Parts: sequence; C-alpha cells; structure tokens
Amino acid sequence: MNIAAQAPHPFLDGKPKKLLIDGKWSDAITGTTFPSISPVDGSTLADIAQGGVRDINLAVSAARKAFEGPWSKTKPFERQAMLLRLAELVERDFHDLATLDTLDMGAPISFTSGRKTRAVGLLRYFASAVMMINGDTTGNSLPGDFFTYTLKEPVGVVGAIIPWNTPVTAAIWKLGPVIATGCTIVLKPAEEASLSSLRLAELAMEAGIPPGVVNVVTGPGDTAGAALAAHTDVDKIAFTGSHFTGQKIVQASARNLKRLTLELGGKSPHIVFADANLDEAAQGAAMGVFVNSGQVCAAGTRLFVERKIYAEFIERVADLGRKLPVGHPLDPSTQIGPLASSAQLERVTSYLDLGASEGARPIMGGARLTEGDFAKGYFVPPTLFADVKDNMRIAQEEIFGPVLSAMPFEGMEELVERANSSIFGLGCGVWTRDVTKAHTVARAVRAGNVWVNNYGAMDVQMPFGGYKMSGYGRESGRESLEAYLQTKAVYLRF
Ligand code: NAI
Ligand code: MG
Repeated sequence: MNIAAQAPHPFLDGKPKKLLIDGKWSDAITGTTFPSISPVDGSTLADIAQGGVRDINLAVSAARKAFEGPWSKTKPFERQAMLLRLAELVERDFHDLATLDTLDMGAPISFTSGRKTRAVGLLRYFASAVMMINGDTTGNSLPGDFFTYTLKEPVGVVGAIIPWNTPVTAAIWKLGPVIATGCTIVLKPAEEASLSSLRLAELAMEAGIPPGVVNVVTGPGDTAGAALAAHTDVDKIAFTGSHFTGQKIVQASARNLKRLTLELGGKSPHIVFADANLDEAAQGAAMGVFVNSGQVCAAGTRLFVERKIYAEFIERVADLGRKLPVGHPLDPSTQIGPLASSAQLERVTSYLDLGASEGARPIMGGARLTEGDFAKGYFVPPTLFADVKDNMRIAQEEIFGPVLSAMPFEGMEELVERANSSIFGLGCGVWTRDVTKAHTVARAVRAGNVWVNNYGAMDVQMPFGGYKMSGYGRESGRESLEAYLQTKAVYLRF
C-alpha cells in the first residue's frame, strides 16, 4: 500500500479543532476533546472539541438570536450572494475539503474529489432557489371582500445531524436550504468525520454569512446530538443516518413537536433482466454497491438477476469486484479504501461471518484484509454472496459495507414482491431494454428513487429521499426547500 509522502494538510496544524458558536471559535465548556482517527492505520489526525449539552445550549441560543436579529430581514439578493460566494470558495478549496474527508473516513480521493460538481452545484442550486420562495394569492368564497394570500416563512432554528459517509456534501445538503430560506443552523457532524464540516464553516464565515447563522458543535451523538434533537428551542431537525438513530430523534422531537426530515438507510434492490446490456449492467451492479466501500445509503445491496443469466452474470460482477484496486485512499488509483472506523469494521465483518453461517456462498471477498500494511487499517474487500435467501439477515439488514447479496428471480410478479419485501424503500435499480418492464418496476417498487439503466445518478434539481423506514422528507430539489419553510395564511378584509 504505497503512497508517496504527502504534504501535510493545511487544516491539520496540530492545534485542537474548536466549536463555532456565534461566529467565534471556542473550546468545549468541559475543555475535553476527542480524536479524529485515521482509518488507514488508527493514528490520530487531530483533536476535536467534545461539545456536550451546554455547548448545544449556547449554540442554539446563538442561532435563535441570529434568527430573530437582522438575519430575518436580509433580502433574497443578499442570501443569494452569500450562497454564490460560498459556492465559489468551496470550488476554490474543494481539493482540500475532499482530502480532509479522505483522511478522516477513508473514502478514496477519486470518489471524494469527484463530488466537486455536486457540492458546488448544490450551493448554486440553493442560490437560485432563493428566488423561488413565493407564497400564493388565492381565490376565496368568503362573504364580503377578502384578499387572501399565503406567505412562506423560514421555519426557524434548524438542528442538522449528519453521518460520516459523504461528510462535506451531507453538510452542504443542510446548509444550502438553511441559508436560502433564512433559517439558522446548529450543525452536529459525525464523530468519525467532523473535519470537513469545520473547514466548511470557516468558508461560510469567509463568505460573509453573519455570526450565529451557522454554528457547528462537534461531539458524540448520544450527548451533543441527543441534546440538539431534544432542545425545545430548535424548530426542525434535518437528520441523515441510521434508522435506529432516526427513531430516537422522532421521540426526542416530540417534546416541542419539531418538524423533521429523516434521510435514513436502505437495502435497495438492484434488478437485472436477461435482455439488458449486460456489460453495463455488470458494471452498474458492482459500482452500485462497492463505491465508497458500500457506505452509501442508497447502495444497491440486493442483486436480483433473471435466472437464465444468473450464474454467468454474478461471475461477471465478481470479476469486476476482484479487479477493483484496494489501497491507500489518497492514492488516485484506489477504488476501495478502508471502512470509516473500527466500529464499522467490526459491524461489517460480523455480517461477513453471519452470511457464511446463514448458508450464503461467498464467491469473492468474505474476510477483512490483514496482509502487510492492511493489518493496521479497516480494509474489507468487495464481497459477493451468491444464493442468498430473501429472509436471511444479510438480505434484510443494512450492512453499510462492500457486500452484495445476489439471488435469481423468475417472473415479474415474484420479482416485485421480493424487491418490496424490505422495511426500507430508498433506491431501486433496473436494467432492461424493454420499456414495459422498466415502467412496471418503476411503478411497482416502493422506493423514493428509481434508476433505469444506471445506478445512483443524483441531480440537484431532483428530490432525494425514502419510502417506508428509509425516512421522510426530501433533500435537494423543490421539495427540500419546502421543508425549511412554513406557510402562513393571511385574510385581509377590505
Ligand atoms: P448514526 O445514525 O448513529 O449516526 C449518524 C449521526 O447521528 C451522527 O452524527 C451521530 O453522532 C448522530 N447520533 C447518534 N446517536 C444520536 C442520538 N441519540 N441523537 C441524536 N444524534 C445521534 O450511525 P452510525 O452509528 O455512525 O452508523 C451505524 C450504522 O448506521 C451504519 O453501519 C449504517 O448501517 C447506518 N448508517 C446509515 C447512514 C445513511 O446514510 N443511511 C449513515 C450513517 C450510518
Ligand atoms: Mg476518522
């Protein structure tokens, strides 16, 4: 696992990283820190302020004060200009942001730096969305003369809790609509990958976003995150992460009936019909789950292949998987880096053992890499289990690793029922040249996103989100903006 000596990252200057509250960088009130750990070798990259309940309280007060201050009077033009400036700064520094994520959570640099267009595009999308925030004038049948109209107003203080799998874009997903709508934010990044959120917050300040509008409190989920979810002066929680934590957030939010958007996990079916372009489908099936080592909420983890091509097709996918270079995530040729954390390594390897004991047949991968330098890191190679049964736990539970479960199918009716036999409903891929089959699956599957003859495409103008236990609410697209707004009905008698 060779990697040429890297210049030290400018953000990793040896100083502990601080919280951003009310435009000022401060230590946690307790003075404690926690380490950012490199998944390549377990070394410490930086110490980060360990925010807790009291830091969350301060950050929420700052966000409330900012919301009720001049921020709520800013003109759309001003918020648009701030978002465009931030987009420019993110574009300027994207390589640094991507490198921080790669160092922090191990995604290959080819993957993190490849998200530049999306990251900058999201900010520019929300910059233009500022100009689309309009109420309606409505007709009415009231006696007398009434003028009736609606106003769109920002929901208020937003608590954003994000995961570690695509850190910088996850933060931008929340930050963009907050600024566009005139809300304020307390962002709680994941413990495993907080660095890029802190750097992004510096850029937000450089872009001229006023103090208190963007606050970042790093720290553990069960203290800092839980305090934010329960805080009665927070109006909305925008959460991305596991459905277990999503459920806790729903409960915590009940105290003041916060608005919620939850972008949770999945166990997405990826369907290949015999009439598909099989070269492209094999590539899609492999990368639909192996990209970012499967640490993707919409990963296509259940591969349904029409029986007459099943044996040959899964061999093709396995062949592609075996060729994916596993290595140091900073090496530009690496396609599979380490998993994000030791906890994730433990979790994924426990599913590898479980799959084997449930009777699935691993045709590649199947065990952690322990040779040479790999021993110090959290490396798991692409794994394909063949002949998986629908009711096996590896076919039902979100593994969040490079693990694909393959199963043959016969006809459409059986396929749709099996594709839908999951508690989740985030994504679904289908490969076919038959437009009827494509439409039938697209209509019948209970999932928020359907990809036909591709897997995982995402566009800033399209809403992204889940059915069933994959959550509710949509991110990006017009729907996402609505979730940061509320509607006031005004009756004016004249
Ligand atoms: P998690 O859902 O617990 O963590 C996501 C965020 O929630 C982090 O910022 C964390 O600090 C915060 N959090 C944790 N407990 C909280 C609480 N009680 N109240 C408020 N915030 C809290 O996910 P975790 O533990 O990092 O990963 C475990 C599994 O979850 C993964 O193996 C994967 O299956 C799934 N996951 C799914 C994601 C997705 O995008 N669908 C993202 C991350 C994890
Ligand atoms: Mg880390």
